[in-house]
Amino acid sequence: MITAKICLACNRRNYYRAIERFSSGSVKSFCTSGRTFEQAIKSPTEKPYYITTPIFYVNAAPHIGHLYSTTFADVFKRWQQFLGRQAYLLTGTDEHGMKVQQVAEAANVKPRELCDKNSEIFKDLALAARISNDRFIRTTDSDHIAAAQKLWTVLQEKGYIYKGTHEGWYSVSDETFYTESQLEDIKSPETGETIKISKETGKTVEWSSEDNYFFALSKFTDQLLNFYEQNPRFVVPEVRYNEIKNTVRDGLPDLSISRPASRFTWAIPVPGDDSQTMYVWLDALTNYLTAAGYGSLSSEEFGRSIWPADVHVVGKDIVKFHCVYWPAFLLAAGVPPPKQIVVHSHWQMNGSKMSKSVGNVVDPFAIIKKLDVDSVRYYLLSQNILEADGDFSDQSAEVKRNADLINNYANIISRTCGPKFSISAGIDEFFSQPGKPVSRADDFLQLQNKLVNDLNELLPTIRHKMETYNVTGAVIEIFNVLHNGNLYAQLGSPWKTEPENVNPTIFHMAEIARVTSILLQPFLPSYAEKALDRLNVVKIRRGHKFARFGADREYGQGANRKGEHIITRI
Ligand code: MSP
Repeated sequence: MITAKICLACNRRNYYRAIERFSSGSVKSFCTSGRTFEQAIKSPTEKPYYITTPIFYVNAAPHIGHLYSTTFADVFKRWQQFLGRQAYLLTGTDEHGMKVQQVAEAANVKPRELCDKNSEIFKDLALAARISNDRFIRTTDSDHIAAAQKLWTVLQEKGYIYKGTHEGWYSVSDETFYTESQLEDIKSPETGETIKISKETGKTVEWSSEDNYFFALSKFTDQLLNFYEQNPRFVVPEVRYNEIKNTVRDGLPDLSISRPASRFTWAIPVPGDDSQTMYVWLDALTNYLTAAGYGSLSSEEFGRSIWPADVHVVGKDIVKFHCVYWPAFLLAAGVPPPKQIVVHSHWQMNGSKMSKSVGNVVDPFAIIKKLDVDSVRYYLLSQNILEADGDFSDQSAEVKRNADLINNYANIISRTCGPKFSISAGIDEFFSQPGKPVSRADDFLQLQNKLVNDLNELLPTIRHKMETYNVTGAVIEIFNVLHNGNLYAQLGSPWKTEPENVNPTIFHMAEIARVTSILLQPFLPSYAEKALDRLNVVKIRRGHKFARFGADREYGQGANRKGEHIITRI
């Protein structure tokens, strides 16, 4: 088969490379992921959905919070694909900075070596958690360095970068400037005078000044406020957006965006000035552009790339960088800002903040190993931590696994696939004798009707929840139907009932299992796949169009047999 890198219909690179053979004998390249040449022509401007996670610092081990951001973003990527759109997920590691430089020096290794080793751990986590990222970016990647330097050059050419003096509290031994809030006053043991020390390292600081480049952030106060006004859903949830607007309304000071290369070497060099290196946040934020080809594509090609990002997923502690600095840099450079920033709160452990020194940090590898990927996914998604912090506990993760995944979801699958009945016979009977009366109690038939209704309502309901980033709500809706489905199975007891009632009951149970499994794919991809395989639903009938009662007449062959639980007890 011939492959082409450019879609003839929408002229995009990379993401479109399949071939359609027309009856006339002509062959055209078209968009992959189910889009035909004609569909691509109809909406040639629809770019792939582009979602990102924060890039993680390599100087600490991955924890459950990192896994949460990545899982959350992964669900949205899969959800968009489920709706039929191309989607791109970016994650990776943030590798430059004083911390890495200092840790590497102390360990007597090169910073690059330290980064290679630690970045691999985050990559392993993405693999272990079966995250569907399209790229794992590292800020030490050469195309990223080129992108960051390009952004700098553009900002400079447009006149938004100037040289100035940065003053502040500086610790010589930590080689770091500290803000007032990072310091405390103590009495010097030697002189008895009040001195300032870093709360973190205990090292003394002194008032000091150095040459830095500055970004003219103050010039963007009004432009940012206008941008916020025109994009009322730029930051979600609203409470975070309001905080940001208030900060910007108070006025923004210019931002120091470089450090002297003499003390800060593990950073991207400032283009055209070897004596300075780039501020790590300017470097780090640019990763989102790098993956879209900024710095390696021509501006025309970049205009047709996956940029702007549809969503940056970030934690509550990095809101200012993403919602103030980032759009300001981009507006200044003439690059469209991302469409949306979704902010989540943090996971605590048994009611208190996770901290290494307290020893209550959840190791994501350990919990995945203990429970399995989808059970951890389910637990993380079962708490809505957009506005308030969540609470992680190993025990409740296990309890939820047993109650919801095994006793509810897996239960309806194994009941439906029991060896005594046949899903295929149920389907045949339903479609060959539509409306055939069944001798059942009214309340049973009422529940049956309600379930049919609920199944047909699920897709629009979930779509609505997902539009407001309420993943928890979406999952709860599906599990409510599963719960009622099990109640229905119990009441209907096809294993005990009259022969004429078996097939209609089995058919309804099978439809509950099939439709919920189709809808669970973005949330619990491994379990949903196992369930759909078990029900023998063919791959091309697992899309959203089949998430309706009676939408598939051809599944279930050979599904009714002994054994093979989709989720095993631990
Ligand atoms: N490197 C920066 C991000 C740069 S993005 C251009 C950074 N890295 S981090 O490793 O410290 O944090 C990454 C993300 O993890 C942040 O979004 C942060 O909010 C999130 N979390 C840190 N602790 C967390 C919890 N306890 N719970 C949930 N998320 C947590 O910041």
